[in-house]
Amino acid sequence: MPPDDPQRHAQFADRVIAWQKANGRHDLPWQQTRDAYRIWLSEIMLQQTQVATVIPYYVRFLARFPTLAALAAAPLGSVLELWSGLGYYARARNLHRCAQTIVGERSGRFSADPGNNATLPGIGRSTAAAISVFAFGCRAAILDGNVKRVLARCFAVQSSAANAQSERDLWALAEALLPESDIESYTQGMMDLGATVCTRHRPVCDACPLQPICVACRDGRQAELPLQQARKALPERASRVLLLSDGRRVLLERRPPLGIWGGLLSLPALVGESAEGFARQHGCRLLRTETLLPVSHTFTHFRLTIDVLHADVEIIGPSAMEAVWEWLPFENVASAALPAPIKKLLLSLRTTP
Ligand code: ADE
Ligand code: SF4
Repeated sequence: MPPDDPQRHAQFADRVIAWQKANGRHDLPWQQTRDAYRIWLSEIMLQQTQVATVIPYYVRFLARFPTLAALAAAPLGSVLELWSGLGYYARARNLHRCAQTIVGERSGRFSADPGNNATLPGIGRSTAAAISVFAFGCRAAILDGNVKRVLARCFAVQSSAANAQSERDLWALAEALLPESDIESYTQGMMDLGATVCTRHRPVCDACPLQPICVACRDGRQAELPLQQARKALPERASRVLLLSDGRRVLLERRPPLGIWGGLLSLPALVGESAEGFARQHGCRLLRTETLLPVSHTFTHFRLTIDVLHADVEIIGPSAMEAVWEWLPFENVASAALPAPIKKLLLSLRTTP
């Protein structure tokens, strides 16, 4: 069957829908509901995080913020706390802003129209479409990383990622493939296929409903498609932080709302200052210092290497404490809103003698 055969287009959706009904996922915690709040929350959490990781966060989040109004009324800090460990914290800040915008300016409700929801913070075209499909049964196309992979393989789309023209081509293809009915099963089926069958490495073509119409599978090009853009080496950045501890607690600083790890608690940067001078400003006397193994973390646009100076101190007086500083007891580290690599470091400290 030639790749642009209209029959192939028609078959595509039918195959996905039948497969989803028989073999797709049906009992994820955000399925079996039409509650746009719950669906939106799941879609935001799932944007850069896998289902298995998301589930416990999703359940805890809903227990704490059962409604959009409850979320909008909460302080950002408590939202970040519940997000702690999921990463990509801009999602949590946008989530909070989005809830406040809907409550404050849009009468507390999501719209059924994806174009409308796509103007809200943190909601892109694909997420907006998913909300409209799952909450309102609208006919709209999604195009996340998983779906792009399925389409690129099945139709041998020669586009390379991050190219505006190929982005438009893929959207046009995604729209052209939409079925007339069963949009929910189709959309969930595309997600499920991409996540469980047409995986990045070793897709399971023998279990795939698209196998009879898939070009990549026919030609053995699964490893080559989707075409990879040449990866640029990420720029490197370095920083130095102080882990000041009185044995029971660690001194943390609330980061400014914008920039990396915005709004989270983290170890203070040591810029130009001596550890001793820093300790003194916080009413502490240095007992001993030790350089720990550096911590590294990869962000979307750079790689950060953090040198960590561990300082044991005793408290000798009051410190000029502003609200940005917080002495966090070690037993509270696990549940605090800390960047994942910093949390990991602090937790490892407890278990090494
Ligand atoms: N990834 C993004 N949205 C999803 C959903 N609704 N179910 C499973 N995985 C997803
Ligand atoms: Fe992906 Fe294989 Fe299915 Fe083609 S047949 S869509 S490559 S899993």
